[in-house]
Amino acid sequence: MPDEKKSPTLAVREYRDSDRDAVWALWRESGVMADPERAGQDLEFCRASADNTLFVGLQDRRIVATIMAGLDGHRGWFHYVAVDPDNHGTGLGRHMVAHAEKWLAGRGAVKVELMISQTNHAVLRFYENLGYGPEPRVVMTRDIGS
Ligand SMILES: CC(C)(COP(=O)(O)OP(=O)(O)OC[C@H]1O[C@@H](n2cnc3c(N)ncnc32)[C@H](O)[C@@H]1OP(=O)(O)O)[C@@H](O)C(=O)NCCC(=O)NCCS
Repeated sequence: MPDEKKSPTLAVREYRDSDRDAVWALWRESGVMADPERAGQDLEFCRASADNTLFVGLQDRRIVATIMAGLDGHRGWFHYVAVDPDNHGTGLGRHMVAHAEKWLAGRGAVKVELMISQTNHAVLRFYENLGYGPEPRVVMTRDIGS
């Protein structure tokens, strides 16, 4: 992480079809895309729903950050929170989260929930610095796809 923090000069807008290659490269480099096929499905679902969106953050017209935000009717969710590794620690992640929070709040969300692996200390600290905290819940899941 750079020693000095810069205020991010970031232009944030919604994803466009022409962003696909740049977003795929960013997701690969930042490690948020475990399975490209799954990522493609997530993106398709996101774009087909008025309650979900993908924001891209641009510096000098280059995509350096993303955040997918979704509303489940009550809570907001984030996915694909990614910042170009060369720009970590410069405030871009904070900026993207604030932008997505505003978008969700404008649609009536009262809370944002996140799932982070317990061992992902870097991301835990990132969200802690943004005012997020753990809640004593057990996440239960079941695969229902074929
Ligand atoms: C997590 C991630 C999005 C953070 O983005 P970023 O632009 O580097 O974070 P910021 O510079 O906006 O940091 C915001 C705050 O979190 C802190 N922070 C960020 N990363 C941190 C880390 N690894 N350890 C400790 N603190 C960290 C910053 O110091 C800053 O605190 P401050 O402003 O109160 O001093 C980025 O590291 C990333 O893309 N990681 C890989 C992908 C990933 O794991 N995404 C999350 C999937 S759930």
